[in-house]
Amino acid sequence: MPAKHLNVALLGTKFMGKAHSHAWSSAAKFFDLPGDPVLKVAVGRDKPSLDEFATRWGWEETATDWQHIVTRPDIDIVDIATPTALHCEMAIAAAEAGKQIFCEKPLALDLAQAERMAAAVNAAGVTSYLNHNYRRVPAVAFAKHLIDTGRLGRIFHWRGAYLQSWIIDPTFPLTWHLQAEHAGAGPLWDLGSHSVDLARYLVGEIASVQAVTKTFIEERPLPGADAGTFKSGGGNAAARGKVTVEDAAIMAVTFANGAIGSFESTRFATGRKNANLFEVYGEKGAVAFDLERLNELEFLDATLPSSEQGFRTVLVTEAEHPYLSAWWPPGHVIGYEHTFTHAVADFVKAVCGGSPIHPSIPDGVATMRVLDAAKQSAATGTRVACCGPA
Ligand SMILES: NC(=O)c1ccc[n+]([C@@H]2O[C@H](COP(=O)([O-])OP(=O)(O)OC[C@H]3O[C@@H](n4cnc5c(N)ncnc54)[C@H](O)[C@@H]3O)[C@@H](O)[C@H]2O)c1
Repeated sequence: MPAKHLNVALLGTKFMGKAHSHAWSSAAKFFDLPGDPVLKVAVGRDKPSLDEFATRWGWEETATDWQHIVTRPDIDIVDIATPTALHCEMAIAAAEAGKQIFCEKPLALDLAQAERMAAAVNAAGVTSYLNHNYRRVPAVAFAKHLIDTGRLGRIFHWRGAYLQSWIIDPTFPLTWHLQAEHAGAGPLWDLGSHSVDLARYLVGEIASVQAVTKTFIEERPLPGADAGTFKSGGGNAAARGKVTVEDAAIMAVTFANGAIGSFESTRFATGRKNANLFEVYGEKGAVAFDLERLNELEFLDATLPSSEQGFRTVLVTEAEHPYLSAWWPPGHVIGYEHTFTHAVADFVKAVCGGSPIHPSIPDGVATMRVLDAAKQSAATGTRVACCGPA
């Protein structure tokens, strides 16, 4: 039987718009899927650049009015790849229209918005996915397999650090990422949401958090029209505005299962471009991962005699490793964009009645609860409780 056509509407067409377009185009080519995504409508704001984007990536139509598109009867899937402030309104409108939702992280501006989104998704009974794509790096999914099969035993420590450096230059303009009303927070939301999601996935729910945050550059030039992620877009040296998010955040957490952990989230780690690192230490072993070497997982087996122990590097490219049988022969490495293709493949299976996809929007509420607790902790100087899934 031919796969069911699933018409996709993409909201937002810059950094994530490109990554998602690539994933919608490639998923059904590499994975056997019960549904076939159709790149139906790309939605943005600027018609000329939107048309150019649609032609390049193969979107059939373009539109500048997302409200109309998310209620169109022929649209099956709404893909939200816009700045964070728009996620809540867009996801609720899509859920109420009965659409399946693929949504970028961080989930929302705050916990209250996240809870409203989860309620709308639950009430509508639609499939939702929150794009913490790093769960679908094969090496990370393999770490999850090692932990779930007991190879690390009881977990003692999580050590996470998500380090970037793209706004250290004080002339970098005040893009939406640096304004609380558009982004919710700085790297705590942007990068910390990924790390907290990975910690919840690999270790368990976070019970309490103590945080400190810091803004190093308080004021910046206003941006030019085409400013976006990692891109200055000109700027206007004369007109300046206030930075209303933190530049760096550090958290110390307790997990409900008795482990403890630390997180660093910063855009001021000089020289680090996109270092998403974690280490997990257990009584029987340990794993370590660095996104900048995403085909590799460091694994130490502490059940060996101590004279034989040592971290070894597993090249996670065997057909038996998660997702890899769909790609190339062993050793033919994959990259960042593949994580989005894996997310789309799992999402299509979930939409067509397969196993539920993780994390969903309701699941993302638990991550927002941790981040919200961190914000409160940084403001008050106290440890804040944040236990449990949504
Ligand atoms: N999964 C990841 O690793 C990852 C990486 C980067 C960004 N993100 C997230 O993706 C989202 C988008 O980030 P980005 O880096 O692509 O931002 P961006 O600034 O590069 O692109 C934002 C897009 O949204 C469009 N847009 C803004 N307002 C709109 C409106 N009212 N109607 C329609 N389109 C509108 C803009 O025109 C632009 O095309 C953010 O929530 C961000 O946190 C996730």
